[in-house]
Amino acid sequence: MQILETFRLTLREFTPDDADALALVLSDPETMRFYPAAFDRTGVEQWIARNMRRYAEHGYGLWAMVLKANGEVIGDCGLTVQNVEGSNEVEIGYHVRRDRWGHGLASEAARGCRDYGFEKLPVERLVSLIRPENIPSRRVAEKNGMKVWKEITWRGLPHLVYAVQRREF
Ligand SMILES: CC(C)(COP(=O)(O)OP(=O)(O)OC[C@H]1O[C@@H](n2cnc3c(N)ncnc32)[C@H](O)[C@@H]1OP(=O)(O)O)[C@@H](O)C(=O)NCCC(=O)NCCS
Repeated sequence: MQILETFRLTLREFTPDDADALALVLSDPETMRFYPAAFDRTGVEQWIARNMRRYAEHGYGLWAMVLKANGEVIGDCGLTVQNVEGSNEVEIGYHVRRDRWGHGLASEAARGCRDYGFEKLPVERLVSLIRPENIPSRRVAEKNGMKVWKEITWRGLPHLVYAVQRREF
């Protein structure tokens, strides 16, 4: 199911058939350097299954980022519920296949998710949880109108919580 469209991308729900394409993203150690580990094949399949459960439960999750020019899945971007110091926040998350970095695709997809989130969900803010040393991801958040809201320990590691408020949107 297609969710939204930007100039160069469509975002749609993942299906199990996307595992090969997604593995090129989530199994790349360089792309996953800010995570505890890259995903093996089972991890990629579980990741898709987890997001399919999110679609069923919340109506959203991390979606497949599809390049309109050739129909290829080149990453993910979307919305997930995250527990931030005891409160549920909706997070914009993104991963892009390494050979496509540096063309503004994550920023374009993240803006699409921000607009979609504020249009469709009753939330006052959207957040992105980012390791302080992850400069590319911080730039995506900043270009998405977000500012650092607070610094927390999340899943055992220091994270910046970037946020954009509905009233600023
Ligand atoms: C973060 C990420 C999604 C950005 O994707 P992208 O499509 O390259 O992003 P954009 O082109 O919109 O650029 C965002 C920033 O990435 C950085 N960047 C771009 N090309 C880069 C490259 N070849 N190498 C390193 N950083 C690069 C730049 O700082 C850029 O900011 P700028 O426009 O101010 O220069 C991508 O780097 C990625 O998949 N990283 C690994 C997964 C990850 O960390 N996800 C976020 C978890 S919080």
